[in-house]
Amino acid sequence: PSILRDDKISEETNKLISSLLSRTDFQGQKLCQYQGCWYYYNTLQGVLNFQSGFQPQDTDIILASYPKSGTTWLKALTVALMERPKNNSYSSDDEHPLLYDNPHGIVPCLEMDVYHENSSPNLAKFSAPRRLFSTHMPLHAMEEAHKHSACKIVYVCRNVKDTLVSWWFFLCAVLKIEQSRGILESLFESFCNGTIYYGPFWEHLLSYWRATLEEPKHVLFMRYEELKAEPRHQIKRLAEFLGCPFTKQEEESGVVDKILDLCSLRNLRSLEVNKTGSRNDVDHKDYFRKGEVGDSKNYLTPEMEYKIDMIIQEKLQGSGLKF
Ligand code: A3P
Repeated sequence: PSILRDDKISEETNKLISSLLSRTDFQGQKLCQYQGCWYYYNTLQGVLNFQSGFQPQDTDIILASYPKSGTTWLKALTVALMERPKNNSYSSDDEHPLLYDNPHGIVPCLEMDVYHENSSPNLAKFSAPRRLFSTHMPLHAMEEAHKHSACKIVYVCRNVKDTLVSWWFFLCAVLKIEQSRGILESLFESFCNGTIYYGPFWEHLLSYWRATLEEPKHVLFMRYEELKAEPRHQIKRLAEFLGCPFTKQEEESGVVDKILDLCSLRNLRSLEVNKTGSRNDVDHKDYFRKGEVGDSKNYLTPEMEYKIDMIIQEKLQGSGLKF
């Protein structure tokens, strides 16, 4: 799978890697720590390409998340919001892009898709109506886009325990390996000591949390659990933040519910493209599992839960961010 591909790493990057802290994961894959964040080598190459080549535009929208925090859902919702001016009757309209591609195919990831190969990709196809990208990088890795443009950044986060369990299921599915407790325990340890892909988790959270406090018009902070609990309210929040609020008429004609329905886990996973398609060696179906809040209780021991709670409490202390 793309996250583990070792190709296309330049000599310069290899030189840089040799000066960085590195570690090996449960599979024998190498990660290194760059600007405080842990990346597989090929992701680091994408991050470096992005950092040297990306020119933000004020109208850009960047959907950010820690992996397994609700990225697919946020992508689908944002696409559905952006599509609505030209596509008013999506539920019956069989031309809606979400019916033909997985949300990850429609919204490419900056470091893993767009800048994966070089620092000057052709961005022409992303021009209309607004460029929509995603990323798993912490905010400090996107200093340029963040500091020098008015682009909108939407961050979705999720309870760390559910994120961890979701990551375990996803990795085993993608790598086609048996879902063992040993792997969960190894991921748990890496989560706790921060040396996990895109970790430490708390640094990720805090980078976006601080930014949303400072610049709420620039960075929107969303939570998976809130999206589940009050989807109508949250999608209106998202629409307002993106500058495309629902009109009274849209609300009255049920557009909000249509979007939520279109983007529901139940609907997306039932679409042919998500049942049978794949991208970068990842089967689309693996992006859709249970989508439940608190599912981690079924897999983590009380001791594991306690340890994670303690770490998160300590790391987020004083930030105002509660979990
Ligand atoms: P679970 O593994 O707990 O089921 P990401 O999209 O960041 O990879 O996150 C994946 C998680 O989001 C998975 O959680 C998946 O089931 C859930 N998910 C995917 N699509 C969803 C949707 N449309 N609505 C709600 N949850 C969704």
